[in-house]
Amino acid sequence: MPKSLDELSSDDARKLLALSKRGLLELNAGSFAALIGKLDAEDILNSRELEYWKSVANNGPKLASSSNRLAPTLVLVLKVTRLCNLRCSYCRSWAEGPDQVMSFPVMVETVMQAVSSPTTKSIMFVLHGGEVTLLKPRVLEKLIWIQEKLRRPDQVIQNAVQTNAVSISDDWIRLFKTLKMPIGISLDGPPELNDRVRVDKQGRPSSGRVATNMVKLREAGLSYGGLVVVGDEAIRIGARPLFDYFLSVGLRNVDLLNELPGNEALQNGTHRCTNYVSFDVFVEFLVECFRVWFSEYSDQLDIRCLTELFLAAGKMAEPKSCLWSGDCLSKIFTIEANGDLAACDKYIGDRSFIYGNLLAGQMGDLIKSSKLIRAEAAAQERASDRASTCKWNNLCHGGCPHDRYLFKNAAGITDRSCCGLSPLLDAMCAAIEDHPEQYAQFLRARGHALRKTH
Ligand SMILES: C[S@@+](CC[C@H](N)C(=O)[O-])C[C@H]1O[C@@H](n2cnc3c(N)ncnc32)[C@H](O)[C@@H]1O
Ligand code: SF4
Ligand code: SF4
Repeated sequence: MPKSLDELSSDDARKLLALSKRGLLELNAGSFAALIGKLDAEDILNSRELEYWKSVANNGPKLASSSNRLAPTLVLVLKVTRLCNLRCSYCRSWAEGPDQVMSFPVMVETVMQAVSSPTTKSIMFVLHGGEVTLLKPRVLEKLIWIQEKLRRPDQVIQNAVQTNAVSISDDWIRLFKTLKMPIGISLDGPPELNDRVRVDKQGRPSSGRVATNMVKLREAGLSYGGLVVVGDEAIRIGARPLFDYFLSVGLRNVDLLNELPGNEALQNGTHRCTNYVSFDVFVEFLVECFRVWFSEYSDQLDIRCLTELFLAAGKMAEPKSCLWSGDCLSKIFTIEANGDLAACDKYIGDRSFIYGNLLAGQMGDLIKSSKLIRAEAAAQERASDRASTCKWNNLCHGGCPHDRYLFKNAAGITDRSCCGLSPLLDAMCAAIEDHPEQYAQFLRARGHALRKTH
């Protein structure tokens, strides 16, 4: 009789994983993670890592302490490496030189501190960079091994990856397939636009390589979503050419981000923030995108920010994005390769948004002792209490804190009566009223019946 996963030995796990690597055994994501978790430390760690792991085991994994009470749902963006094969014109996330890859102790501390929070039930680890696929897939297998060794049975852990998809090896594709990982691919539009900004170290274009790798992912049965940075050029060419291009390369699900300035310039007061798209300008563009998308593309293309706001505008579902959550600072963190614990990636370059280092302190303590988080939480509360000035306040909860930070630093504006979203929500409500049949069709296509949530 076949054994259950619980009964398998590390030897069984080694054999089954080897069969799966040779394509002779198909494992689902849960079984794969469970088998990785069965491996002995010697099977997966090198000698230095083994030494560190033994010291952790000897000291006993840190027990849940009352000060390490984190949010029930955490999103941890792991800067697994800051090394990158591209040099995108707007990006400040890549780095060169030594010590740009997350060490094993940082990975262990990150997982251990997150799972030891008694209040935390669900954790999403996002492999981010730099470019993760420059490393060997072993890095993800090690992360899963640590997660499986340390997590409580009642905790749900998910891993996702954000990649430029310029060079994804077959080994990575195999692992993504086994794990059914959510994959985000960055692509800013048609080659004439994308290849001006998303270029490699030699200044060569990236679109062709990304399109080829998307075909490989599709052939492996993987689905993925696009992440699009909207700069002046995208706004100039307009929504239709962008959407047509995404469909032509098989991208049926994308999200849009406004191009942001570097935070270094903002901090030293020079206000040299010319190359960015402010949230107000971005929302104007979203209104244009929404009109074109709803009338011509919404049956073939999902634009995540528009879909979720459109559902929310019709009172059909709460929006899920961090932007409208009102409490991102307590549940979304970036972990740098050196163990620094920081706010969301958008604050990169502003050291005041680094709360401390996980090798030197506990996540919960670092968060609790951050004056900045307290000040930002108070600002968020003020912003989310604009019911008298904006009817959409209960939906946006004050909007994105980084956007408030940008307004304050770049434009000198500290208080706004609206986070900037209302022109889009107004346009959406008008569309629902003017085209009820089309909205009903939009809902049906996404599995919603016309039954309101609130
Ligand atoms: C920093 S990259 C890291 C992951 C991977 N290298 C990639 O390109 O997907 C993550 C995302 O941030 C976006 N990004 C980088 N710089 C930005 C900026 N100045 N404003 C807005 N988004 C930016 C990238 O386009 C990408 O979609
Ligand atoms: S690929 Fe990603 S990390 Fe690399 S330069 Fe471009 S946006 Fe930055
Ligand atoms: S600062 Fe803005 S983008 Fe970053 S997590 Fe918070 S809401 Fe999201």
